[in-house]
Amino acid sequence: MSTNKKHLVTCALPYANGPLHIGHLAGCFLPSDIYVRYLRNAKKEVLFVCGTDEHGVPITLQAKKKGVTPQDVVDENYTLIRDSLEKWGIGFDNFSRTTRPIHHETAKAFFKTLYDNGVFVEQVTEQYYDEESNQFLADRYITGDCPHCKHQGAYGDQCENCGRTLSPSELINPKSALTGNSPVKKETKNWFLPLDTIQASFLNEWVATKKDVWKSHVYGQCMSWLNDGLKPRAMTRDLDWGVKVPIEGADGKVMYVWFDAPIGYISATKECTDDWKSWWQNPEAELTHFLGKDNIVFHTIIFPAMLKAHGDFNLPTHVPANEFLNLEGEKLSTSRNHAVWLHEYLNDFPGKEDELRYVLTSIMPETKDSDFSWADFQARVNNELVAILGNWVNRVMVLTHKYFDGVVPANENKTDYDVLESARALEEKVGGLIEEFKFRDGLAELMAIARLGNKYLQDTAPWHAIKEENGQERVKEILNVSLQLLALFAKSSIPFLPHTSGKLTDMLQLKPTGLMAGQQVNKPTLLFAKIEDEEILKQKERLENQAQENAEAPELEPIKPTITFDDFSKLDFRVGTIVEAAKVPKADKLLQLLVDIGLEKRTILSGIAQHFSPEDLVGKQAVVVTNLAPRKMRGVESNGMLLMAENTEGKLVFVEPVGGIEPGSVVR
Ligand code: MF3
Ligand code: ZN
Repeated sequence: MSTNKKHLVTCALPYANGPLHIGHLAGCFLPSDIYVRYLRNAKKEVLFVCGTDEHGVPITLQAKKKGVTPQDVVDENYTLIRDSLEKWGIGFDNFSRTTRPIHHETAKAFFKTLYDNGVFVEQVTEQYYDEESNQFLADRYITGDCPHCKHQGAYGDQCENCGRTLSPSELINPKSALTGNSPVKKETKNWFLPLDTIQASFLNEWVATKKDVWKSHVYGQCMSWLNDGLKPRAMTRDLDWGVKVPIEGADGKVMYVWFDAPIGYISATKECTDDWKSWWQNPEAELTHFLGKDNIVFHTIIFPAMLKAHGDFNLPTHVPANEFLNLEGEKLSTSRNHAVWLHEYLNDFPGKEDELRYVLTSIMPETKDSDFSWADFQARVNNELVAILGNWVNRVMVLTHKYFDGVVPANENKTDYDVLESARALEEKVGGLIEEFKFRDGLAELMAIARLGNKYLQDTAPWHAIKEENGQERVKEILNVSLQLLALFAKSSIPFLPHTSGKLTDMLQLKPTGLMAGQQVNKPTLLFAKIEDEEILKQKERLENQAQENAEAPELEPIKPTITFDDFSKLDFRVGTIVEAAKVPKADKLLQLLVDIGLEKRTILSGIAQHFSPEDLVGKQAVVVTNLAPRKMRGVESNGMLLMAENTEGKLVFVEPVGGIEPGSVVR
């Protein structure tokens, strides 16, 4: 392990636009937590920070879809995310949020410093603009085909299929995510980080020093970026949700979300300690960023470039990014709801936090994509946690109570201590692997301790030995060694299985000073229970239902831009009764209606001929917009509009007052 005194560990800030699924967990939450628990257990000074990424277009799009404010969206998701991570056992020192004032202040000060240092390049460029929603289309407000892999539905900032970062102008067939319209181009001024010059002056050289430090896929991705040649990248956006740009002439602009979000690591540190500089501006402190592979470029290139340009910050030592986890052979997808959600797992499997940690660590996509399946989950829990670990612990504890009333027997001659030595060697190996971010292998070596314990019990067979002459003495030795192995396991399993480690520590009444001969241990409780076929079936059915619901879910129109109450109150809605209805000659869609709106009878043309026959309409009531400017169609002037509800298949139904009311009644 490096000799650094302090370890600042970050986990990529999840977007607060939805709950967390197993992909997030295997990608960065679990590995960072394992690493941190290991360091803490090794008595290192550690600070572990994270929080929610609450700016950016995914949030505003989500808000729009739901018809609520962005703040509503992030408030709800922050709580959900924080609570489920806490329940699962991710031990952050601080889990912050980027909408907090401390973050806005920190991000603004950071931006201002770069600005004052003359780092940014000011540039007027043409950006895509949606004329219907009167808005520039940055980042995820625009979608199109990926120029690299041709994936349809790539975003303006990134293709989720090939992972490449994009700019909107590279998209083929760009479309507004707000209206589906083809956008126009419009000029706007923004502040760019000149990554091209920073590459030459700093990044090429710095990244080269990481060749043998970073995982090869991380280094490789980073190098392919550098080899393509970096381009200046806008750090500001014409949007209103985000951190305001703190300089003159930047009204109506916010920071690019990938500028402010990683600064969230700094503000989360500031929020929990006044001594934040000792973590960020101190050569004795080491910075480690955990993240998924779609975040690599931001943590190996853009954020380091920002930190460097600021001047006084540590740069990341390790960037142990993971690749992607799939689910039942398919890409995890929030939008298609192909996911196992953490909060649902915790509900369905109460008390089984470590089972999920165990399985996700076993299949962690450390160097390549991997797959989670429910059948594999069941098999690993039943064949490994229950059959090997749980069974071992239970046997040792039961025998200790059976033969010695739960008192740890002595082993004065240190008989069989070679077994303990082997276990210590495995424990060392586990630690070494964790330090190399090889968590899968580390977990396998941890389980080797349990296998060793099982084999020792099998080989020495205390249940036979007890019947031999002097058997009591021999069994004392065996159970002494076995209990010490359990104590060693309790300690070395802390990073991977913190809940289990806690239970085992309680069961053994294990003190920090270790297990003592003559001390009492508690009665065994079962650490793991078999996962039954029905439980797995239920989960598989749930996935199928999610897929089906998603397939059936119609594409509803997005909600239109907000209007004021004044806008609304300009509209005049009345109940009208249709008194006459007839087809309009040579127009297959139009009906000509005479509608009684109380004050008068109006002629209204309505495009509903393919949905209703005239004779069915007479006597029907509808809501009528009565102050719409008249419009002439087919030589007839239409004086109003009937409101209809239209579903996604184009079916029309009347919006009719239930029970009927006098024509002319106001609707508001
Ligand atoms: N919210 C981003 C994502 O989910 C990650 C942000 S990481 C940070 O992909 F560095 F910006 F904080
Ligand atoms: Zn692509």
